[in-house]
Amino acid sequence: MTSPLALLGGPPIRTRPFPAWPVHGRAEEDRLLRVLRSGNWGRLDGNEVAEFEHRFAAMHGCRYGIAVVNGTVSLRIALLAAGIKADDEVIIPPYTFVSTATAVIEANAVPVFADVDLATFNLNPAAVEAAITPRTRAIIPVHFAGQPADMDAIMAIAASRGILVVEDAAHAHGAAYHGRPAGSLGHIASFSFQSSKNLTSGEGGIITTNDAALADACRSIHNCGRVPGGVWYEHHVVSGNYRLGEFQGAILNCQLDRLESQTNTRDRNGRRLAARIGQIPGLHLQARPAECTRHSHHLFMVRIEPPAFGASRTAVHTALEAEGIPCGTGYGYSLPDQPLFRHKAFGPYLPHAAARLDYRQTRCPNSDLICREQGLWLGQNLLLGGDEDVDDIALAFEKVHAERGALAGAGEPST
Ligand SMILES: Cc1ncc(COP(=O)(O)O)c(C=O)c1O
Repeated sequence: MTSPLALLGGPPIRTRPFPAWPVHGRAEEDRLLRVLRSGNWGRLDGNEVAEFEHRFAAMHGCRYGIAVVNGTVSLRIALLAAGIKADDEVIIPPYTFVSTATAVIEANAVPVFADVDLATFNLNPAAVEAAITPRTRAIIPVHFAGQPADMDAIMAIAASRGILVVEDAAHAHGAAYHGRPAGSLGHIASFSFQSSKNLTSGEGGIITTNDAALADACRSIHNCGRVPGGVWYEHHVVSGNYRLGEFQGAILNCQLDRLESQTNTRDRNGRRLAARIGQIPGLHLQARPAECTRHSHHLFMVRIEPPAFGASRTAVHTALEAEGIPCGTGYGYSLPDQPLFRHKAFGPYLPHAAARLDYRQTRCPNSDLICREQGLWLGQNLLLGGDEDVDDIALAFEKVHAERGALAGAGEPST
């Protein structure tokens, strides 16, 4: 017998806050002060960003790392470096942050959506295969929530056709696939250091690759088209200034010292939570294939199947929050449904292709279902604590399921 739902006036499962994010301490303060006092604040003046690039790339199985101002331009620079041209097609999932798509448009290329797998929430290789046309030049698998996409299948599809694979690893710092780090699984990869991310400097991003030519091209594009050994006012390609600053480099060097242990904690806690709540009817966890040897859990993601659970996603979300478990329903739109795509509001991009594109014809039923009715997210910081923290989350799910009748009887919140 459980107590009444907190939503209906009962005692909440959890009243203490979960671990705060970001984590910082003396190390960040000392290193920031050192940069401040050095006067070397720009990337080309000091060593913080250069050191970070080297360390991050090595930890992610790559020879080269190019730090940039965010995880959106990193995707665009990767595409431009690989020679993506106007009207080339790039296959992406519809269930991702908008940047995966806008980076393609800002490279003047056409995003083509291939649906995700309902079990893993990652790009479905069969849908990728079906989306390929003679214009396809690249695929961007997103390692959603921090679980590597089906890279064996995606790389095989790409290899047979000479297609570029850009990993969108914005959620996947420290994640591994067959023991190999995310960021080294495709031809080139992009990470984000925006404030919610598992490694953060408030804003920032990095491109990783083992391809020297791609790395050189990225380095040039991120630095106003300069080339190594070139003189300061000599510019070889059209581009901009996307360099990361030394203060962010200093923070990232400190954050990187914590990444390994934080990633192991999230992975361990994610497994514990999955074991605790995996049997609840109508609650579908992100299926974890054996190939995922470390899940970075930027999110702990589930799907609520309302008839089987006995309550709607909205009701479960509201009830969990009332129990003291912060969570969210995620993207409200599958990307092709975004006003941006509905209205083809592409600005100066795709002047020729836009006329023949009609994203209302795009069919991505799995993504639609997750966005509109079923997806539920818990943020990474909820998995940074100990067993008791994980057990509180599990107890809250169990309680909401046990009391689902009262939830329905009380009438569901309308938002
Ligand atoms: C999957 C994905 N790709 C790309 C990005 C873009 O990163 P940024 O916010 O650093 O531009 C994000 C960030 O939220 C993301 O979640």
